Amino acid sequence: MSTLLYVRTSLYGSQGASSQLAERFIAEWRTRNPGGHVIVRDLAADPVPHLTADRFQAFNTPAENRTPEQREIVAYSDALIDELRAAETIVLGVPMYNFGVPSTLRTYFDHIARAGVTFRYTSAGPEGLLTGRRAYVFLTRGGVYGGSADAQAPYLRQFLRFIGIEPELVIAEGLSLGDESWQKSLAAAREQIAGLTAVELAA
Ligand SMILES: Cc1cc2nc3c(=O)[nH]c(=O)nc-3n(C[C@H](O)[C@H](O)[C@H](O)COP(=O)(O)O)c2cc1C
Repeated sequence: MSTLLYVRTSLYGSQGASSQLAERFIAEWRTRNPGGHVIVRDLAADPVPHLTADRFQAFNTPAENRTPEQREIVAYSDALIDELRAAETIVLGVPMYNFGVPSTLRTYFDHIARAGVTFRYTSAGPEGLLTGRRAYVFLTRGGVYGGSADAQAPYLRQFLRFIGIEPELVIAEGLSLGDESWQKSLAAAREQIAGLTAVELAA
């Protein structure tokens, strides 16, 4: 059975523009995977706690030496990672908030970036361990950043590649610049989704 993990981050839940794009893609995925299973992780509704020194220490303590509290902390992170591992397809809906990704996504990433579990260091550099999965990321922005460097798309690409996942990005920008800009940008994103689903999901 195919499994898709959907990580939603918009403050507006499924009403968010990023969610609507992601959910459009997922609807198409469902028609092509009738027996498929979709897991929804809504980080706005159910945020992952901030990484603290205690939490990080728990990750770095050998399993046999962990206290009961540390075991609980690691079990929580392990469960998030198992959820990712169980999915062959990962979908993220990610708005730009204050020039970057939502802080809830950062805390989630802090819990799934685990040395020796989702990446490892080798003499040739870091190696991601979650290979063999496809990620589709739907990004929205109020302003227009075009080709200029921003702290949303390059960051997401870098993080996902670090843990071994090559992402496909769909970006809708200019969503706060009036109705015309909104319509045009979302129409272009929907067209991109149609192209993606025709090529990628048919494979
Ligand atoms: C708290 C907050 C911060 C935002 N910061 C930015 C920003 O830094 N740059 C930008 O272009 N748009 C910014 N926006 C606009 C959103 O990126 C835009 O409305 C996007 O469509 C939101 O996606 P969503 O509907 O999926 O939540 C911000 C919106 C909110 C609510």
